[in-house]
Amino acid sequence: MSDFLELAAKRSSCRKYSDRPVEREKLVKIIEAARLTPSGCNSQPWKFVVVDDPKIAPEVAKTVQHFGVNEYFANVKSFVIVLEERAVLMPKIASVLDSQYWAKGDLGAATYAITLAAESLGLGTCIIGVFDRPKLTQLLDLPKDQRFFLIVAVGYPETEKEARPKLRKPLEDIVRFV
Ligand SMILES: Cc1cc2nc3c(=O)[nH]c(=O)nc-3n(C[C@H](O)[C@H](O)[C@H](O)COP(=O)(O)O)c2cc1C
Repeated sequence: MSDFLELAAKRSSCRKYSDRPVEREKLVKIIEAARLTPSGCNSQPWKFVVVDDPKIAPEVAKTVQHFGVNEYFANVKSFVIVLEERAVLMPKIASVLDSQYWAKGDLGAATYAITLAAESLGLGTCIIGVFDRPKLTQLLDLPKDQRFFLIVAVGYPETEKEARPKLRKPLEDIVRFV
């Protein structure tokens, strides 16, 4: 099996983190992987806020404890906040498609790249979609109309991870070869 397939099979959401902080160099490598993600018209409709300040990370953790979920992330030492930016498409494409038509897909690919890059560096991640957007806007001093995509918790897993069986639809239900 290729390294990539092994990595993809090994990655799973981590919801128990140790108190060990994540090295800044590793966080930079993770963002570099996101930067290399393909996007529609190479529009790269993303920005990333990496929070690793020991005073701010617990405040981000509070914003994800929202609607009674996500209590697992209280001690996470770093978060990557994935922001949606306006995409500038090629003029011919922009005349027929809304600027953000591909943006969510592009951002999803970048977010997945973050998780795989982290996994390759021995880190655990969890993508977080439930969080208090107004509170986070205020905390990070972002413009009021800033669009958020997702947050990724990044940290060292509490214990050596064992590969969990993947709960996924069977291959034959999702693919058709013709
Ligand atoms: C868009 C999106 C939003 C998610 N939001 C949350 C979340 O708020 N809290 C959480 O614990 N997991 C969240 N997850 C993680 C999913 O529950 C998880 O990826 C899925 O169950 C598959 O499990 P695996 O990541 O371990 O393979 C989210 C994942 C995605 C892709």
